Amino acid sequence: MCGIIAYSGKDNAVPYLVDGIKNLEYRGYDSFGCALIDKGNIIVRKDVGDTASVLNKYRIIKNFSNQGMFHTRWATHGGISKENAHPLTDCKGEIAVVHNGIIENWQDIKVSLDGHRFVSQTDTEVIPHLLEERLSRGDSMERALRAVFNEIKGASSFVVMRKGDSNMYAVKHGAPLVLGLGKNGFFVSSDIPSFLKYTNKVVFLHDGDLVVFNQNSVRIKNLLNKKDKHDVHTVDISPGSLDKGKYRHFMLKEINEQSKLLKSFENYDFSKVRLAASKIRSAHRVYLVGAGSSFHAAAYGALILRKSGIDAIAIQGQDIQNFSRLFERNDVFVIISQSGETADLIRSLQLMKGFRIGIINTEGSYLSRNVDLVINMMAGIEKAVAATKSFMNTMVLLEMINSYANGSSESAMHDLKLLNLNLYSLFVPSVLSAIKRIAEELKDDGDIFYVGRDYGYLISLEGALKMKEVSYIHAEAFDLSTIKHGPLALISQGSKVIAAVTEPVEETFYGLEEIKARGGHIIGISPSNSTVFDEFVHVPEAGVFSFVPLVIVAQLISYYTAVKRGINPDKPRNLAKSVTVN
Ligand code: G6P
Repeated sequence: MCGIIAYSGKDNAVPYLVDGIKNLEYRGYDSFGCALIDKGNIIVRKDVGDTASVLNKYRIIKNFSNQGMFHTRWATHGGISKENAHPLTDCKGEIAVVHNGIIENWQDIKVSLDGHRFVSQTDTEVIPHLLEERLSRGDSMERALRAVFNEIKGASSFVVMRKGDSNMYAVKHGAPLVLGLGKNGFFVSSDIPSFLKYTNKVVFLHDGDLVVFNQNSVRIKNLLNKKDKHDVHTVDISPGSLDKGKYRHFMLKEINEQSKLLKSFENYDFSKVRLAASKIRSAHRVYLVGAGSSFHAAAYGALILRKSGIDAIAIQGQDIQNFSRLFERNDVFVIISQSGETADLIRSLQLMKGFRIGIINTEGSYLSRNVDLVINMMAGIEKAVAATKSFMNTMVLLEMINSYANGSSESAMHDLKLLNLNLYSLFVPSVLSAIKRIAEELKDDGDIFYVGRDYGYLISLEGALKMKEVSYIHAEAFDLSTIKHGPLALISQGSKVIAAVTEPVEETFYGLEEIKARGGHIIGISPSNSTVFDEFVHVPEAGVFSFVPLVIVAQLISYYTAVKRGINPDKPRNLAKSVTVN
């Protein structure tokens, strides 16, 4: 979703903001805008396009301003246009606002602002006009902000600059916002990576927080009158992880990082995993919830738990409400989220009555602060929009939770070590060239089918999602055991079918033979070759971790297909990494 970074301090804000916004582009990127101070006036520059092109167009780097705010927009209300890009201003252009979220009652508010001149189709624009209205009646800025905070409905965090005011104001209302304490000034941003190069001292803001900051000082007041403490955290993330390093894209870098991350599980402190397993063992029922790739991990987790005799079910974030009447106090919820900010999950958190375990990658995120037990995904910063290493680490953690729950943790650790010994075989030139050859064949296809049975089907779901996300090719996953009940009708001569084979059992091959008999061209990812495969990528077997190499190959196939189609897989069109609005 939208990304915000603001700075006020003794230094020139512009280089910080230029650098910072690049690390927020993953949130959304259809337009960019900024507000800076020039000779006492607020100057607003904005346009459609990516950050770099708008920055160049308006030569923004040439400015000097001790305060400023930058914004990347992911359109929710109003088309992608220059007028709808942020900042939005009041009638006189003296109050500028950047915003992340959705103001659900914006239309009613707009009607009430009779006489104000609106120039955009956005919900955001009501904020500067509401402030203008309040200030014109003699309210102080803080009083006006409180009134706006009370009036707007829905998750909506925003930052305000006002002509002639040395203060900047940030309000956290649902959507993420953090405060960074720099050496010579203060940052307010949607996410820590945007200012990590300059400071790792962070305050995680709470809902209702109003931050008033200027060159010299910062103060936080809670508009909901909550008395939560604001500790300063020292974030332990290396700024080096924000760069692509030797890789062409973050997605490729993050796929490759998985070997190292998997190895690090050999020395992982599993105490929280053990605690989660014991809660799960005594649960009435376990609900695993997530969205996108996190939902696929949830589905996998539910399957392995059921196979251990535990009543477990996976639910998509938006479906939680439909299940809520079934929830009981002794249920356990496993909430999976890379960002920890996914709106569907946050909205439904209160409905989850039992013990809530979060498997979350982002420290300080809303979900990480509002569950009963947090298990850190330990995937490090993931910048590509498509989840890769966060998905993998979640799957490993779920497998370990399951193994502690069913008493097989030693054997699982043995499998993990075996996997780590053999994983190099995936990254050798012969395998990579086979994957690139497959990508070349797929790149002009209109439809790709992913098939598998049991675990293989769930891996197929993720494989198909990756393909859709980054290559824009229609890819769909089917369970091989049910293919005869409809999907087989889609197969014709030359249909490309990727088979994710975890266990080479007979039933799997019956289904594949049926596809082949109808002309399907079968690309097998499997620990052993078969005559049914037209093409074959060999993956090592690794007991309960056999999903790992299959997932890596599927990720690489999607990545190379996207690149061969000339798409930047790091920033797929229309998608955002953190979905902070419903
Ligand atoms: C979006 C992203 C997906 C991600 C999903 C869940 O849809 O594009 O890649 O899997 O959100 O995000 P979360 O941060 O909750 O894991």
